[in-house]
Amino acid sequence: MSSLTGKHIILGISGSIAAYKSALLTRLLVRSGAEVQVLMTPAATTFITPLTLHTLSGKPVHAQVSSEAGWNNHVELGLWADAYCLAPAPANTWCQMARGLGDNRGAAWDLCVRCPVSFAPAMDLDMVNQPATQANVARLQSYGDTLIPVGRGELASGLVGEGRMAEPEDIQAMLEAHFGEQQLLDGKRVLITAGPTHEPIDPVRFIGNRSSGRMGIALAEAAAAMGASVKLVLGPSALGVHHPRIELERVETAQEMFDAAVRQFPGTDLAVLAAAVADYRPAEVAEQKIKKTEAASPAIALVKNPDIAATLGRQKQPGQLIVGFALETENEEANARSKLERKNMDLIALNSLRDEGAGFERTTNKVTLFDRNNKRTALELKTKEAVARDILRAAAELMKPTRAGSQNKTSL
Ligand code: C5P
Repeated sequence: MSSLTGKHIILGISGSIAAYKSALLTRLLVRSGAEVQVLMTPAATTFITPLTLHTLSGKPVHAQVSSEAGWNNHVELGLWADAYCLAPAPANTWCQMARGLGDNRGAAWDLCVRCPVSFAPAMDLDMVNQPATQANVARLQSYGDTLIPVGRGELASGLVGEGRMAEPEDIQAMLEAHFGEQQLLDGKRVLITAGPTHEPIDPVRFIGNRSSGRMGIALAEAAAAMGASVKLVLGPSALGVHHPRIELERVETAQEMFDAAVRQFPGTDLAVLAAAVADYRPAEVAEQKIKKTEAASPAIALVKNPDIAATLGRQKQPGQLIVGFALETENEEANARSKLERKNMDLIALNSLRDEGAGFERTTNKVTLFDRNNKRTALELKTKEAVARDILRAAAELMKPTRAGSQNKTSL
Protein backbone atom coordinates (compact mmCIF):
# COMPACT_ATOMS: atom_id res chain seq x y z
CA MET A 1 0.00 0.00 0.00
CA SER A 2 1.29 3.46 -0.86
CA SER A 3 2.14 5.74 2.03
CA LEU A 4 -0.02 8.31 0.22
CA THR A 5 -3.20 6.32 0.89
CA GLY A 6 -5.73 8.46 2.71
CA LYS A 7 -3.43 11.47 2.87
CA HIS A 8 -4.82 14.95 2.31
CA ILE A 9 -2.77 16.92 -0.17
CA ILE A 10 -3.25 20.46 -1.39
CA LEU A 11 -1.72 20.90 -4.80
CA GLY A 12 -1.05 24.58 -5.47
CA ILE A 13 -0.73 25.45 -9.15
CA SER A 14 0.65 28.82 -10.17
CA GLY A 15 0.99 30.43 -13.58
CA SER A 16 3.69 28.63 -15.54
CA ILE A 17 3.70 26.54 -18.68
CA ALA A 18 4.73 23.61 -16.44
CA ALA A 19 1.15 23.71 -15.06
CA TYR A 20 0.21 21.14 -17.72
CA LYS A 21 2.30 18.58 -15.78
CA SER A 22 0.17 19.19 -12.69
CA ALA A 23 -2.70 17.34 -14.33
CA LEU A 24 -0.61 14.17 -14.48
CA LEU A 25 0.63 14.77 -10.94
CA THR A 26 -2.96 15.02 -9.71
CA ARG A 27 -3.78 11.76 -11.48
CA LEU A 28 -0.76 9.98 -9.97
CA LEU A 29 -1.52 11.19 -6.44
CA VAL A 30 -5.19 10.21 -6.66
CA ARG A 31 -4.24 6.80 -8.07
CA SER A 32 -1.94 6.29 -5.06
CA GLY A 33 -4.92 6.77 -2.76
CA ALA A 34 -4.41 10.43 -1.77
CA GLU A 35 -7.24 12.96 -1.54
CA VAL A 36 -6.18 15.97 -3.56
CA GLN A 37 -7.63 19.46 -3.41
CA VAL A 38 -6.33 21.74 -6.12
CA LEU A 39 -5.70 25.41 -5.61
CA MET A 40 -5.10 27.52 -8.72
CA THR A 41 -3.97 31.09 -9.12
CA PRO A 42 -5.80 33.12 -11.77
CA ALA A 43 -2.62 32.97 -13.89
CA ALA A 44 -2.59 29.17 -13.66
CA THR A 45 -6.10 29.03 -15.17
CA THR A 46 -4.74 30.65 -18.32
CA PHE A 47 -2.47 27.60 -18.82
CA ILE A 48 -4.81 24.78 -17.78
CA THR A 49 -8.52 24.75 -16.93
CA PRO A 50 -10.00 24.15 -13.50
CA LEU A 51 -12.37 21.67 -15.18
CA THR A 52 -9.42 19.38 -16.02
CA LEU A 53 -8.18 19.43 -12.42
CA HIS A 54 -11.71 19.06 -11.04
CA THR A 55 -12.22 15.97 -13.17
CA LEU A 56 -8.87 14.41 -12.23
CA SER A 57 -9.06 15.19 -8.50
CA GLY A 58 -12.77 14.46 -8.18
CA LYS A 59 -13.10 17.59 -6.05
CA PRO A 60 -14.01 21.22 -6.74
CA VAL A 61 -11.01 23.33 -7.58
CA HIS A 62 -10.24 26.44 -5.51
CA ALA A 63 -9.71 28.98 -8.23
CA GLN A 64 -11.82 31.88 -6.97
CA VAL A 65 -10.72 34.41 -4.38
CA SER A 66 -14.01 33.92 -2.54
CA SER A 67 -16.37 31.00 -2.76
CA GLU A 68 -19.71 29.92 -1.30
CA ALA A 69 -17.71 28.59 1.62
CA GLY A 70 -16.74 32.20 2.46
CA TRP A 71 -13.64 34.32 2.47
CA ASN A 72 -11.68 32.22 4.94
CA ASN A 73 -11.90 28.85 3.21
CA HIS A 74 -8.09 28.89 2.97
CA VAL A 75 -7.88 28.53 6.75
CA GLU A 76 -10.15 25.48 6.74
CA LEU A 77 -8.27 23.92 3.85
CA GLY A 78 -5.00 24.63 5.63
CA LEU A 79 -6.18 22.61 8.62
CA TRP A 80 -7.39 19.77 6.39
CA ALA A 81 -4.03 19.27 4.65
CA ASP A 82 -1.34 16.72 5.51
CA ALA A 83 0.95 18.22 2.88
CA TYR A 84 0.98 21.30 0.70
CA CYS A 85 2.82 20.93 -2.58
CA LEU A 86 3.29 23.88 -4.91
CA ALA A 87 3.91 22.55 -8.38
CA PRO A 88 4.73 24.47 -10.43
CA ALA A 89 6.05 27.24 -8.24
CA PRO A 90 7.29 30.07 -10.48
CA ALA A 91 9.85 32.44 -8.99
CA ASN A 92 7.36 35.18 -8.02
CA THR A 93 5.31 32.70 -5.94
CA TRP A 94 8.13 31.42 -3.81
CA CYS A 95 9.77 34.83 -3.54
CA GLN A 96 6.54 35.92 -1.87
CA MET A 97 6.53 32.80 0.28
CA ALA A 98 10.09 33.53 1.36
CA ARG A 99 8.99 36.97 2.47
CA GLY A 100 5.76 35.85 4.08
CA LEU A 101 3.59 37.86 1.68
CA GLY A 102 0.08 36.61 1.05
CA ASP A 103 -0.99 38.54 -2.02
CA ASN A 104 -0.52 35.57 -4.31
CA ARG A 105 -2.96 32.74 -3.58
CA GLY A 106 -0.27 30.05 -3.61
CA ALA A 107 1.79 32.08 -1.17
CA ALA A 108 -1.28 32.96 0.95
CA TRP A 109 -1.93 29.28 1.56
CA ASP A 110 1.66 28.85 2.60
CA LEU A 111 0.91 31.18 5.50
CA CYS A 112 -2.17 29.19 6.54
CA VAL A 113 -1.11 25.57 6.45
CA ARG A 114 0.28 23.77 9.47
CA CYS A 115 1.52 20.83 7.42
CA PRO A 116 4.87 20.41 5.64
CA VAL A 117 5.28 22.51 2.50
CA SER A 118 7.18 21.50 -0.62
CA PHE A 119 7.70 23.53 -3.74
CA ALA A 120 8.73 22.56 -7.25
CA PRO A 121 10.16 25.61 -9.02
CA ALA A 122 9.77 26.10 -12.72
CA MET A 123 12.20 28.64 -14.15
CA ASP A 124 14.11 29.64 -17.18
CA LEU A 125 17.77 28.86 -17.55
CA ASP A 126 19.54 31.87 -16.09
CA MET A 127 17.15 32.37 -13.19
CA VAL A 128 18.27 29.19 -11.39
CA ASN A 129 21.69 30.38 -10.35
CA GLN A 130 20.81 34.01 -9.66
CA PRO A 131 21.90 34.98 -6.13
CA ALA A 132 18.38 36.26 -5.38
CA THR A 133 16.88 32.93 -6.44
CA GLN A 134 19.35 30.96 -4.34
CA ALA A 135 18.80 33.25 -1.35
CA ASN A 136 15.02 32.82 -1.51
CA VAL A 137 15.33 29.05 -1.81
CA ALA A 138 17.69 28.97 1.17
CA ARG A 139 15.29 31.12 3.15
CA LEU A 140 12.36 28.81 2.45
CA GLN A 141 14.47 25.79 3.36
CA SER A 142 15.41 27.48 6.63
CA TYR A 143 11.65 27.67 7.40
CA GLY A 144 11.53 23.88 6.91
CA ASP A 145 10.03 23.91 3.40
CA THR A 146 11.28 21.24 1.02
CA LEU A 147 12.72 22.14 -2.35
CA ILE A 148 11.85 19.74 -5.13
CA PRO A 149 14.87 20.40 -7.37
CA VAL A 150 14.45 21.50 -10.96
CA GLY A 151 15.41 19.16 -13.77
CA ARG A 152 17.57 19.68 -16.85
CA GLY A 153 16.31 19.64 -20.39
CA GLU A 154 14.47 21.63 -22.96
CA LEU A 155 12.81 24.73 -21.57
CA ALA A 156 9.71 26.52 -22.83
CA SER A 157 11.92 29.40 -23.94
CA GLY A 158 13.69 27.08 -26.35
CA LEU A 159 16.87 27.10 -24.28
CA VAL A 160 18.29 23.87 -22.94
CA GLY A 161 19.50 23.59 -19.35
CA GLU A 162 18.33 23.66 -15.75
CA GLY A 163 14.93 25.03 -14.80
CA ARG A 164 12.29 22.46 -15.79
CA MET A 165 9.81 21.58 -13.10
CA ALA A 166 10.52 18.14 -11.66
CA GLU A 167 8.66 15.34 -13.40
CA PRO A 168 5.30 14.39 -11.84
CA GLU A 169 6.58 10.87 -11.09
CA ASP A 170 9.50 12.34 -9.11
CA ILE A 171 7.22 14.65 -7.14
CA GLN A 172 4.93 11.73 -6.36
CA ALA A 173 7.95 9.69 -5.21
CA MET A 174 9.12 12.54 -2.99
CA LEU A 175 5.71 12.86 -1.35
CA GLU A 176 5.56 9.09 -0.94
CA ALA A 177 8.98 9.13 0.76
CA HIS A 178 7.83 11.97 3.01
CA PHE A 179 4.79 10.06 4.23
CA GLY A 180 6.82 6.83 4.34
CA GLU A 181 9.16 8.55 6.75
CA GLN A 182 6.21 9.42 8.97
CA GLN A 183 5.80 5.68 9.45
CA LEU A 184 9.49 4.93 9.89
CA LEU A 185 9.20 4.42 13.67
CA ASP A 186 5.55 3.43 13.69
CA GLY A 187 4.71 1.56 16.87
CA LYS A 188 8.28 1.85 18.24
CA ARG A 189 8.97 2.96 21.79
CA VAL A 190 11.79 5.44 22.01
CA LEU A 191 13.57 6.69 25.13
CA ILE A 192 15.51 9.94 24.88
CA THR A 193 17.70 11.63 27.47
CA ALA A 194 18.37 15.31 26.84
CA GLY A 195 19.66 18.54 28.31
CA PRO A 196 22.24 19.16 31.01
CA THR A 197 22.22 17.92 34.58
CA HIS A 198 22.61 20.12 37.64
CA GLU A 199 24.60 18.71 40.52
CA PRO A 200 23.82 20.69 43.67
CA ILE A 201 26.62 22.10 45.82
CA ASP A 202 24.31 23.81 48.30
CA PRO A 203 20.67 25.03 48.15
CA VAL A 204 21.52 27.77 45.63
CA ARG A 205 24.55 26.53 43.65
CA PHE A 206 25.18 23.68 41.30
CA ILE A 207 27.68 22.24 38.81
CA GLY A 208 26.13 22.33 35.36
CA ASN A 209 27.00 22.68 31.69
CA ARG A 210 25.90 24.66 28.67
CA SER A 211 23.66 22.05 27.05
CA SER A 212 20.31 23.64 26.09
CA GLY A 213 18.42 20.38 25.45
CA ARG A 214 17.64 21.54 21.91
CA MET A 215 19.21 18.54 20.13
CA GLY A 216 17.42 16.00 22.37
CA ILE A 217 14.09 17.80 22.02
CA ALA A 218 14.54 17.85 18.23
CA LEU A 219 15.15 14.09 18.42
CA ALA A 220 12.02 13.56 20.51
CA GLU A 221 9.89 15.61 18.12
CA ALA A 222 11.33 13.91 15.05
CA ALA A 223 10.81 10.43 16.54
CA ALA A 224 7.20 11.31 17.40
CA ALA A 225 6.68 12.67 13.89
CA MET A 226 7.95 9.32 12.57
CA GLY A 227 5.25 7.50 14.53
CA ALA A 228 7.09 6.51 17.74
CA SER A 229 5.85 6.82 21.32
CA VAL A 230 8.54 8.81 23.04
CA LYS A 231 9.63 9.07 26.66
CA LEU A 232 11.78 12.15 27.03
CA VAL A 233 13.87 12.44 30.19
CA LEU A 234 14.94 16.08 30.20
CA GLY A 235 17.43 17.74 32.50
CA PRO A 236 17.03 21.39 33.56
CA SER A 237 16.21 23.16 30.31
CA ALA A 238 14.34 26.37 29.57
CA LEU A 239 12.79 24.60 26.59
CA GLY A 240 9.63 22.56 26.61
CA VAL A 241 7.91 20.16 24.28
CA HIS A 242 4.29 19.52 23.36
CA HIS A 243 3.35 16.51 21.30
CA PRO A 244 0.66 13.95 22.04
CA ARG A 245 3.17 11.12 21.57
CA ILE A 246 5.90 12.59 23.80
CA GLU A 247 5.77 11.88 27.52
CA LEU A 248 8.05 14.33 29.28
CA GLU A 249 9.77 13.62 32.58
CA ARG A 250 11.84 16.47 33.96
CA VAL A 251 14.80 15.64 36.17
CA GLU A 252 17.57 17.67 37.72
CA THR A 253 20.56 15.52 38.61
CA ALA A 254 22.49 12.77 36.82
CA GLN A 255 21.27 10.29 39.44
CA GLU A 256 17.64 11.24 38.78
CA MET A 257 18.22 10.95 35.05
CA PHE A 258 19.88 7.57 35.56
CA ASP A 259 16.96 6.31 37.68
CA ALA A 260 14.39 7.47 35.12
CA ALA A 261 16.30 6.02 32.15
CA VAL A 262 16.92 2.64 33.82
CA ARG A 263 13.24 2.46 34.80
CA GLN A 264 12.07 3.26 31.26
CA PHE A 265 14.60 1.22 29.29
CA PRO A 266 12.97 -2.24 29.45
CA GLY A 267 10.35 -2.32 26.72
CA THR A 268 11.89 0.42 24.63
CA ASP A 269 13.08 -0.34 21.13
CA LEU A 270 15.47 2.55 20.83
CA ALA A 271 17.29 4.70 23.38
CA VAL A 272 18.90 7.92 22.20
CA LEU A 273 21.18 9.32 24.87
CA ALA A 274 21.64 12.96 23.97
CA ALA A 275 21.98 14.35 27.49
CA ALA A 276 25.16 16.09 28.61
CA VAL A 277 25.40 14.24 31.90
CA ALA A 278 27.78 15.57 34.56
CA ASP A 279 30.52 13.04 35.11
CA TYR A 280 30.94 14.08 38.75
CA ARG A 281 28.82 15.48 41.54
CA PRO A 282 29.77 17.03 44.88
CA ALA A 283 30.31 14.27 47.41
CA GLU A 284 28.24 16.24 49.90
CA VAL A 285 25.51 18.81 49.40
CA ALA A 286 25.64 21.53 52.05
CA GLU A 287 22.32 22.02 53.78
CA GLN A 288 22.82 25.76 54.07
CA LYS A 289 24.29 28.23 51.60
CA ILE A 290 28.08 28.06 51.87
CA LYS A 291 29.37 31.33 53.28
CA LYS A 292 32.27 33.28 51.93
CA THR A 293 35.17 33.23 54.42
CA GLU A 294 38.57 34.86 54.65
CA ALA A 295 40.12 31.42 55.14
CA ALA A 296 41.70 29.38 52.34
CA SER A 297 39.57 28.74 49.24
CA PRO A 298 37.14 25.91 49.90
CA ALA A 299 37.54 22.69 47.92
CA ILE A 300 34.61 20.65 46.63
CA ALA A 301 35.18 16.90 46.81
CA LEU A 302 33.60 15.12 43.84
CA VAL A 303 32.33 11.59 43.31
CA LYS A 304 31.57 9.90 40.03
CA ASN A 305 28.05 9.79 38.63
CA PRO A 306 26.71 6.58 37.15
CA ASP A 307 27.09 6.26 33.37
CA ILE A 308 23.60 5.89 31.92
CA ALA A 309 24.78 4.86 28.46
CA ALA A 310 27.17 2.20 29.74
CA THR A 311 24.54 0.80 32.12
CA LEU A 312 21.88 0.58 29.42
CA GLY A 313 24.52 -0.91 27.10
CA ARG A 314 25.02 -3.74 29.60
CA GLN A 315 21.26 -4.24 30.01
CA LYS A 316 20.53 -4.18 26.28
CA GLN A 317 18.47 -7.11 24.96
CA PRO A 318 18.32 -8.39 21.39
CA GLY A 319 16.15 -6.03 19.36
CA GLN A 320 17.04 -2.99 21.47
CA LEU A 321 19.20 -0.27 20.00
CA ILE A 322 21.26 2.45 21.68
CA VAL A 323 22.36 5.69 20.07
CA GLY A 324 24.78 7.99 21.86
CA PHE A 325 26.66 11.21 21.34
CA ALA A 326 30.33 12.02 21.68
CA LEU A 327 31.53 15.57 22.12
CA GLU A 328 35.26 15.52 21.57
CA THR A 329 37.98 18.12 21.28
CA GLU A 330 40.88 15.83 20.28
CA ASN A 331 41.35 12.41 18.63
CA GLU A 332 37.72 12.81 17.77
CA GLU A 333 37.03 9.82 15.53
CA ALA A 334 39.09 7.34 17.54
CA ASN A 335 37.47 8.47 20.79
CA ALA A 336 33.97 8.26 19.31
CA ARG A 337 34.57 4.75 17.96
CA SER A 338 36.00 3.49 21.23
CA LYS A 339 33.06 5.03 23.15
CA LEU A 340 30.67 3.20 20.82
CA GLU A 341 32.34 -0.09 21.69
CA ARG A 342 32.93 0.54 25.36
CA LYS A 343 29.32 1.51 26.02
CA ASN A 344 27.91 -1.18 23.69
CA MET A 345 26.11 1.38 21.54
CA ASP A 346 24.87 0.74 18.01
CA LEU A 347 25.34 4.22 16.63
CA ILE A 348 27.21 7.28 17.85
CA ALA A 349 26.99 10.88 16.66
CA LEU A 350 30.29 12.72 16.95
CA ASN A 351 30.08 16.45 17.60
CA SER A 352 33.18 18.49 17.20
CA LEU A 353 33.38 21.83 18.95
CA ARG A 354 35.87 22.85 16.27
CA ASP A 355 33.09 23.02 13.69
CA GLU A 356 31.68 26.47 13.17
CA GLY A 357 27.93 26.49 13.94
CA ALA A 358 27.99 23.22 15.89
CA GLY A 359 27.60 22.49 19.58
CA PHE A 360 25.90 23.91 22.63
CA GLU A 361 23.23 26.62 22.51
CA ARG A 362 23.21 26.62 18.70
CA THR A 363 20.27 25.91 16.45
CA THR A 364 22.53 24.07 14.00
CA ASN A 365 24.80 21.08 14.39
CA LYS A 366 27.38 19.15 12.38
CA VAL A 367 27.86 15.52 13.25
CA THR A 368 29.55 12.42 11.89
CA LEU A 369 27.80 9.12 12.47
CA PHE A 370 29.59 5.84 13.20
CA ASP A 371 27.63 2.65 13.45
CA ARG A 372 28.41 -0.75 14.90
CA ASN A 373 29.19 -2.04 11.38
CA ASN A 374 31.97 0.53 11.01
CA LYS A 375 29.93 2.66 8.65
CA ARG A 376 30.92 6.32 8.77
CA THR A 377 28.57 9.07 7.56
CA ALA A 378 29.68 12.70 7.69
CA LEU A 379 26.69 15.05 7.65
CA GLU A 380 26.68 18.66 6.54
CA LEU A 381 26.04 21.54 8.92
CA LYS A 382 22.23 21.61 9.27
CA THR A 383 19.49 22.52 11.68
CA LYS A 384 19.28 20.33 14.76
CA GLU A 385 15.85 19.20 13.51
CA ALA A 386 17.39 17.96 10.24
CA VAL A 387 20.27 16.29 12.11
CA ALA A 388 17.71 14.58 14.36
CA ARG A 389 15.90 13.14 11.34
CA ASP A 390 19.19 11.88 9.86
CA ILE A 391 20.16 10.18 13.12
CA LEU A 392 16.76 8.50 13.43
CA ARG A 393 16.84 7.39 9.79
CA ALA A 394 20.23 5.78 10.44
CA ALA A 395 18.87 4.12 13.61
CA ALA A 396 15.77 2.89 11.75
CA GLU A 397 18.06 1.39 9.12
CA LEU A 398 19.89 -0.57 11.85
CA MET A 399 16.55 -1.72 13.30
CA LYS A 400 15.51 -3.37 10.06
CA PRO A 401 15.56 -7.15 10.27
CA THR A 402 18.68 -8.58 8.65
CA ARG A 403 18.52 -11.03 5.78
CA ALA A 404 18.77 -13.95 8.20
CA GLY A 405 15.59 -12.59 9.77
CA SER A 406 17.22 -11.68 13.06
CA GLN A 407 17.35 -8.14 14.45
CA ASN A 408 20.45 -6.38 15.67
CA LYS A 409 22.84 -8.30 17.82
CA THR A 410 23.65 -7.06 21.27
CA SER A 411 27.40 -7.32 21.01
CA LEU A 412 29.63 -5.58 18.55
O1 C5P B 1 31.67 9.44 28.07
P1 C5P B 1 30.92 10.58 27.46
O2 C5P B 1 30.25 11.45 28.46
O3 C5P B 1 31.70 11.37 26.46
O4 C5P B 1 29.78 9.84 26.61
C1 C5P B 1 28.82 10.54 25.93
C2 C5P B 1 27.60 9.69 25.72
O5 C5P B 1 27.31 8.96 26.91
C3 C5P B 1 26.39 10.52 25.47
O6 C5P B 1 25.52 9.77 24.66
C4 C5P B 1 25.83 10.74 26.87
O7 C5P B 1 24.45 11.06 26.85
C5 C5P B 1 26.11 9.42 27.51
N1 C5P B 1 26.36 9.52 28.96
C6 C5P B 1 25.43 8.99 29.83
N2 C5P B 1 25.67 9.03 31.20
C7 C5P B 1 26.78 9.60 31.67
C8 C5P B 1 27.73 10.15 30.79
C9 C5P B 1 27.48 10.10 29.44
O8 C5P B 1 24.40 8.48 29.39
N3 C5P B 1 26.97 9.64 32.98
